[in-house]
Amino acid sequence: MSNVTVIGTQWGDEGKGKIVDWLASRADIVVRFQGGHNAGHTLVVNDQVYKLSLLPSGLVRGKIGVIGNGVVVDPKALMSEIDRVVEQGLKVTPETLWIAETAPIILPLHGAIDRAREAVRGKHKIGTTGRGIGPAYEDKVARRAIRICDLSEPETLDWKIDELLLHHNTLLAGLGAPTFTKEEILAFLGEITPRLLPFACPVWDRLDEADRAGKRILFEGAQAVMLDVDHGTYPFVTSSNTVASVAASGSGMGPKAIGFVLGIAKAYTTRVGEGPFPSELFDDTGRGIAERGREFGTVTGRPRRCGWFDATMMRRAIRVGGVNGIALTKLDVLDGMDEVSICVGYELDGKTIQSFPSAPGAQARVKPVLETMKGWNETTAGARSWADLPAQAIKYVRRIEELIGAPVTLLSTSPQRDDTILVTDPFEG
Ligand code: IMP
Repeated sequence: MSNVTVIGTQWGDEGKGKIVDWLASRADIVVRFQGGHNAGHTLVVNDQVYKLSLLPSGLVRGKIGVIGNGVVVDPKALMSEIDRVVEQGLKVTPETLWIAETAPIILPLHGAIDRAREAVRGKHKIGTTGRGIGPAYEDKVARRAIRICDLSEPETLDWKIDELLLHHNTLLAGLGAPTFTKEEILAFLGEITPRLLPFACPVWDRLDEADRAGKRILFEGAQAVMLDVDHGTYPFVTSSNTVASVAASGSGMGPKAIGFVLGIAKAYTTRVGEGPFPSELFDDTGRGIAERGREFGTVTGRPRRCGWFDATMMRRAIRVGGVNGIALTKLDVLDGMDEVSICVGYELDGKTIQSFPSAPGAQARVKPVLETMKGWNETTAGARSWADLPAQAIKYVRRIEELIGAPVTLLSTSPQRDDTILVTDPFEG
């Protein structure tokens, strides 16, 4: 028996919510280890729809949810999310939700800076969610973040706020945006402290204890490998590492705790925000995929860009992400297409290459090399065994496995939890 770590392998929105929910029902504890409320999961449980951004999905299944030290926490977003799910009937208490006392806090000034910087970037804008994620991570590594444990020490807050304002007000003034006062920050912190602090605890200690006691831990990644700050399409990335190795450092556990790494991949590719996307489709085929796949962002409602499955990009994501097997989602969106294509390489300045380049100029110039195969007319939606799938769809899945060098561990065939074909149980490693 092993723990399981789930990560996205493309540019996010691969349908992690359903898979994590399915796995959460078999886990004891579910841990978020990076990102913040830039993530978005939609969980459909019976007739209830849960929209989660920061809360670990396991809470919906009555499991312990953990927000690790690698997450940046917007306290107001967290509280309104808690209020929302409590209204829907969930129980969220310090017994069921543990938040790392060392997690950095996202302040209103972080969102203001995020948005002000995007506004002046013009055509080089990143297309961030505008939620202050980047500036909060910058403060963490710059050693000036206010962390949850600081909330119980007014004297620490006092000098930390001075340092923060010195830095951020200079920047905001330079960007022509309104600045913040110490009183405003203190009022914000004063308001959130009584609700946030009861959830704070030494998560690393509790997780270690649970692991030793043989509890099953599920680590729930946000965003995806191609948005990783080191391995993604930099600078069009998020500000955290999204690869599986971060599940350990972002929750305070050793690397062995990560267990089986399940990478989630859509049967095609989507992206929100700016940045390179070699297999992107700009025609009716792309629009058809977007429509059938209902490709609109959970967090910002932005339409997602759609394209063919990029096996070349994925091969890299599998390797740097440490992926042992993939969960392939939304195969049914390709039902009824005459032909389907897979990106099997790139052309760059007249040469064929097998690996995605690192420099942004080259990343923007690459053209996809496509392999096209016959599609299928039959529906794959709701299939629960390989026997339910048309032969051509199976061929497509097998070709993907071959090209990316990783097996399909799980195939999801509709948003419903039970419409899943299980090949290997990730918890059995
Ligand atoms: P940030 O994380 O708000 O700084 O945004 C940086 C980039 O990551 C932008 O392109 C966002 O659209 C993208 N991004 C952040 N979170 C998600 C997500 O959960 N799904 C898909 N894209 C995301």
